[in-house]
Amino acid sequence: MSIAWSPETREWHLHNGRTSWVLGVLPNGWIGLYHAGAPLAVGPSYAHLGPRDFSGFDNRVGEPVALALPVPGLGDFRVPALVVEAADGSQVVEPKYVAHRVLAGKPALPGLLPATYAEDDTEADTLEIDLADEPTGLEVTLAFTIFRDRPIVARSMRLHNGGAASVVIRTAMSASLDLPDDDWNLVTFSGAWARERFPADRPLVPGRQGVGSLRGGSGNEHNPSLVLRRPATTEAVGECWGLVLAWSGNFLAEAEVGHFGTTRVRIGLHPEQFAWPLEPGASFATPEALLAWSGDGLSALSDALHALLGRRMARGPWRDRPRPILLNNWEGTYFAFDHDRIVAMARAARDVGTELFVLDDGWFGVRDSDDRSLGDWVVDRRKLPHGLGGLAREVQALGLRFGLWIEPEMVNPDSDLFRAHPEWAIGVPGRRRTESRQQLVLDFANPAVVDHIAAAIGDVIASAPIDYIKWDWNRFITEPFSPTLPPERQGEFFYRYTLGMYDLYQRLTTRFPDILFESCASGGARFDAGILAWAPQAWTSDDTDAVERLRIQWGTSFAYPVSSMGAHVSAVPNHQTGRVAPLDFRAAVAMFGAFGYELDPTSMGEADLAAVRRQVAFYRERRELFQYGRFTRLRSPFEGDGNETAWMVSSADASRAVVAHYRVLQRPWPHRDRLVVRGLGPDARYAVTCWTSFDGPMPTVERGGDELMRVGLGIEPPDPMPAGRDAGADGHRFVRGDFSFRLFDLRRVS
Ligand code: GLA
Repeated sequence: MSIAWSPETREWHLHNGRTSWVLGVLPNGWIGLYHAGAPLAVGPSYAHLGPRDFSGFDNRVGEPVALALPVPGLGDFRVPALVVEAADGSQVVEPKYVAHRVLAGKPALPGLLPATYAEDDTEADTLEIDLADEPTGLEVTLAFTIFRDRPIVARSMRLHNGGAASVVIRTAMSASLDLPDDDWNLVTFSGAWARERFPADRPLVPGRQGVGSLRGGSGNEHNPSLVLRRPATTEAVGECWGLVLAWSGNFLAEAEVGHFGTTRVRIGLHPEQFAWPLEPGASFATPEALLAWSGDGLSALSDALHALLGRRMARGPWRDRPRPILLNNWEGTYFAFDHDRIVAMARAARDVGTELFVLDDGWFGVRDSDDRSLGDWVVDRRKLPHGLGGLAREVQALGLRFGLWIEPEMVNPDSDLFRAHPEWAIGVPGRRRTESRQQLVLDFANPAVVDHIAAAIGDVIASAPIDYIKWDWNRFITEPFSPTLPPERQGEFFYRYTLGMYDLYQRLTTRFPDILFESCASGGARFDAGILAWAPQAWTSDDTDAVERLRIQWGTSFAYPVSSMGAHVSAVPNHQTGRVAPLDFRAAVAMFGAFGYELDPTSMGEADLAAVRRQVAFYRERRELFQYGRFTRLRSPFEGDGNETAWMVSSADASRAVVAHYRVLQRPWPHRDRLVVRGLGPDARYAVTCWTSFDGPMPTVERGGDELMRVGLGIEPPDPMPAGRDAGADGHRFVRGDFSFRLFDLRRVS
């Protein structure tokens, strides 16, 4: 058991040698958080880290007490984790300790809330603390799960109305973390369409700072995750926290520095546009938050989150399987395709070695542009006279898997579905509905809508041998309202919408358990931990430009594993930026992801097709390493002038690695440069083979793990030096020109 309870001091210590959380029952019945973060010895009391002379918080307004469940109105004026309105309209509740349980393993969260899991009861232990507010009868259960082998604690909260009158939940955060000082930088992952999850890093200042979404989805503006790092913390050393919310709807993630210089961080459902009436006997559960701590820098923090999200949030047969190399027709054809063109593309895709052909938007209704037919999930026989079944079988006969794009939560006003059921589109009666991409969002808070779409999409999937689904979501929610909810329950709308979406995922993944689902939302607008419970990979961004992808994939990698990041090579000039980067450079970036292509292979020349064949072969040979190896960030595209990026993947036993170094623009007389790598065996010898294109490698050299980790890999001058100092004439061996890369393949030889 990694949870110790001391009845004398009324303290719990969650410990696993990697992290410690120490909580205690305060004299007034509240739950104090004495310590969270670095591992501490088990046995001693840490109550002295809590309030020193506790004489009742109630009479010492402003005391900087660290609490597990801060509430408003009782002297702690910092942001609360729980706000409940009693029947009399007051918002003062005081949940006090009643009882606790320590459970082996990790209980599932209620209903369809996505959560991490333990495969057996030895993988985790869970502490549940019951609290109650006597006047209202409100019962609160705080859950803390510590994983045996991970520096991570999972948090969630359940509420139950055990009183005689209704109350209203106004704020219910998944986690609140009180830290004793403010010497932290806050990193959030922010951006927009086509530039998702760029790290925004700033020192904490007094007051509140953070990010959130009120878009009805987690969004591409801000990710439901944050990092706190000590100012001196780097990728390789130092203390940091990572907080991730397993939720795909509205969220808030923020820090508050109080007037004593303490820091409170909270993450959970966004309290704005949220209100949940709780009748006597009713219950409510928050989503799960994951709180990871590292004393060894940011890459180790990410490593812990990758392992948990990739292996104990993702589930189903595709969790551990090699992900297929796909070719998607979207940027190759947009809406202009038919059966023969798709089959020709699939044949060319097969010839270069890809394994899965994905038919994107445009196969249903009368969808020749994005202004109609969403909601009409009937195959367009003009384009596909043999139906999806005929097409899928022909593609599969080539030796490929077949995948299909859907956008099940949407409807165009120009659709049969909307004409039959205008009330199924989200909107406030009597008000204009805001369109975006000429489409509206279906009311997934209404179970009848979910039923209809589950049947319609289920029929489509059942009609053909489909191996993969790309599930898109191309606009945010406006005019939030569901006619199925009474006026006093409209504050439940966003939560219920997200659960309706999860319900559809649950039904389709249960009905079609072997299908690989990839989530997507105008690219990366729903890239969050919650969705990974059903779709183990997500389309990272609509921006496939390799230079931009260096930054997008770098930022995404703070929380999310490589196996979850869809990354494709697309045509040039790039459709988002107009940039013309070499084909091999595009591939060398996309390989650090669930790799694929997004172009028309029938329009490529023989030389490019041959290059693609070599890229696919290179990736296939190292696929497990790329997708499931340990990912380590080495050199940030957000530092200096952003001209260089480096990262690597290594196997758990340090026997293999691929280290990548990218340079966007070349400069004359480059400075001497060695790239220090990590995660190798210091006593091992490695065969090092450098690829500067996929045409073929440079001669293999042997280097020690100690040298590679302490002195580094030679970038300038290159190691090994190409034959003949100015061997640039042979094109690729001596790296010249813009958009250059080096991929170092490392294999342990002794
Ligand atoms: C979104 C997706 C794209 C593509 C289009 C189709 O933008 O992110 O990958 O599927 O929709 O309309």
